[in-house]
Amino acid sequence: MTAALTTEQIGVLARAVSRAPSVHNSQPWQLLIRGTEVDLIERREVELRRHDPLGRDRVLSCGAALTNLELAVRALGRDCHVDLRADGDVVATVTIGRPRATSARDYALYQAIGRRRSHRHRFFHNRVPTDVCRALAAAGETTGVHVNVPGPLDKLAELLGFATRVLRDDRGYQRELAVWTTHTHGWDAHGDGVAEEALSPEALPVAGLVRTGTPVPDDAVLADRLAAENLLIICTDGDARADHLAAGAALQRVWLTAAAKALVGSVITQPLHLTGVRARLVSELALPGVPQAIFRFGYPAVPAAPSPRLPLGELFRPPGGTR
Ligand SMILES: Cc1cc2nc3c(=O)[nH]c(=O)nc-3n(C[C@H](O)[C@H](O)[C@H](O)COP(=O)(O)O)c2cc1C
Repeated sequence: MTAALTTEQIGVLARAVSRAPSVHNSQPWQLLIRGTEVDLIERREVELRRHDPLGRDRVLSCGAALTNLELAVRALGRDCHVDLRADGDVVATVTIGRPRATSARDYALYQAIGRRRSHRHRFFHNRVPTDVCRALAAAGETTGVHVNVPGPLDKLAELLGFATRVLRDDRGYQRELAVWTTHTHGWDAHGDGVAEEALSPEALPVAGLVRTGTPVPDDAVLADRLAAENLLIICTDGDARADHLAAGAALQRVWLTAAAKALVGSVITQPLHLTGVRARLVSELALPGVPQAIFRFGYPAVPAAPSPRLPLGELFRPPGGTR
């Protein structure tokens, strides 16, 4: 018989999940605690019809939260078993097992949870050593998930430039984005959404979220800018819910590994939702699978502030409840 969690331990798990990255900081997850079992629930009512019409990024976000949940269980010195669910609102059930010493690696990643944040600014002009880049990629590699350095940057620049121009002129898209980037302040501020300060005007147009005023450099300039960054593309063998969950979990392992090594980064999925962009990326960059996210990273030139979160109380789904 394994011991149930104390209130303090539940708090540790909740804080770790809450700090995960999510599309538009929508935090599309909840937890249902049942003794030593924790369900991670996808809040499908969080809809981004223009940015994420199929809910792919929502599941990727849940995957990132799952990584944080697993690390928090291990940091508590408990064994952890994860069952992925094929369908329904519960994406995974984490079973908390017997006492087990936390590995140094897991503890370092757990500690990086609070330091990780989206850093959409330019990086300090130091290349990241090759062995560090390799360690980041290796942290994300798992069965069915491949983490690759993109090949020809002129091709990538062409596609990202194209996506920027389309998104900048898409009024429906921009309306939805405005809702998620303005409601972090003022009387209706609630703890979700992307704060204005988090979006860097001086970064690559594709390093943040493209808005109507985002300048688009020509493709050659963009290719030079990409060459000054460190990039990884997370790909999966398939394109089903399990693949999206695995990609999100991998993205977060890569990101936390970066944070544990004093690196900063941000994720780009926005262009991948445009029709045809993923297929062209696969063929023109010879990718080994379906691209799910692009991670850019480097050493920080300026600090980035943490983003808000929903109140912790909203993270828990009451037994039998729908919210
Ligand atoms: C699946 C997923 C997709 C994301 N897509 C983008 C993106 O295209 N552009 C961007 O600037 N940030 C993107 N983000 C980052 C989120 O906006 C960010 O995680 C959220 O605002 C919370 O901020 P934090 O990362 O600083 O905690 C994405 C995050 C996730 C998990």
